[in-house]
Amino acid sequence: MKIAVLPGDGIGKEIVAQAMRVLQALGESFEYEWADVGGAAYESAGHPLPEATLKLAKEADAILFGAVGDWKYDTLERALRPEQAILGLRKNLGLFANFRPAICYEELVGASSLKPELIAGLDILIVRELTGDIYFGQPRGRRSSPDGAFAGAEEAFDTMRYSRPEIERIAHVAFQAARKRGNKVTSVDKANVLETFQFWKDVVTEVHAAHYADVTLEHMYVDNAAMQLVKAPKKFDVVVTGNMFGDILSDEASMLTGSIGMLPSASLNDRKQGLYEPSHGSAPDIAGKGVANPLATILSAAMMLRFSLDRAEQADRIEAAVKMVLASGLRTPDIWSEGTTKVGTEAMGDAVVAALA
Ligand code: IPM
Ligand code: MG
Repeated sequence: MKIAVLPGDGIGKEIVAQAMRVLQALGESFEYEWADVGGAAYESAGHPLPEATLKLAKEADAILFGAVGDWKYDTLERALRPEQAILGLRKNLGLFANFRPAICYEELVGASSLKPELIAGLDILIVRELTGDIYFGQPRGRRSSPDGAFAGAEEAFDTMRYSRPEIERIAHVAFQAARKRGNKVTSVDKANVLETFQFWKDVVTEVHAAHYADVTLEHMYVDNAAMQLVKAPKKFDVVVTGNMFGDILSDEASMLTGSIGMLPSASLNDRKQGLYEPSHGSAPDIAGKGVANPLATILSAAMMLRFSLDRAEQADRIEAAVKMVLASGLRTPDIWSEGTTKVGTEAMGDAVVAALA
């Protein structure tokens, strides 16, 4: 088994270093190969996703990814910005199924901005389609407006589109995930306005009727879903939605838990090859200070063991170790509260490694 390790920018290097220590403590004989990605790769090779990095990622069974991005690249042309690395990896590897769990850890209930009773026990899984929609739809660009009230004016446009097979395959992923959890899927759309999402709703309904009558399916407009997520988040089990809505709702859901520093994610293709990364970003404001929370990356490594490397028991060990560490009261600053012990990135890694043993 070969793992591509792509730490990226900002806090990426620090948090991936801790996840690597945890992986190495498992005693497995995986092969690891490191490469630059994002801003780091732009600096070293002139491109956020250099050929060598892409080749490594394609050959690997799994990719452990840190984070990319830094304000200092905001003025670069779009094709050279760090974010293009992650979009390029998703597209080139066909990583269409993005799993973003939003779990509220018992010990961290107080860290949420919502009332404890609303989020205690929260366990939502957002299944976001990751390689289609307005993110990748062609055509896109700038032009002189061809018609309408502003004909002749400069305009920019993107294209929202989904094909039947794209919707079908993500629907299958969501229904199958639901069967292993609360057996309910909420499909989020904007069928009241958008042709693309009326089609989405129709296809999800067909897949459900043909294969998953045992799973409860509900449909919800995206604006209502945004509202329900803060009003009664525990009513959700699996949420399946398109790339754009999933981007927004998954940030909202992760923040509900009060612990964005705790949330892992997985992006899989149809060969079980996957990219595993924390749900949070590169946090350049705290980079290099040794205070970043490595737990989301450590938990992403656990997802990697479970989904791509066929080592579910090792994933269980890591998740149990993280729970033990939280129960012992150790907290990085992002999840610290009165009465707990504040520690840095490395000490948190030490504690997980110790708990594994
Ligand atoms: C995410 C991020 C990315 C996205 C960016 C960095 C391209 O926000 O993974 O949610 O929009 O998908
Ligand atoms: Mg996002």
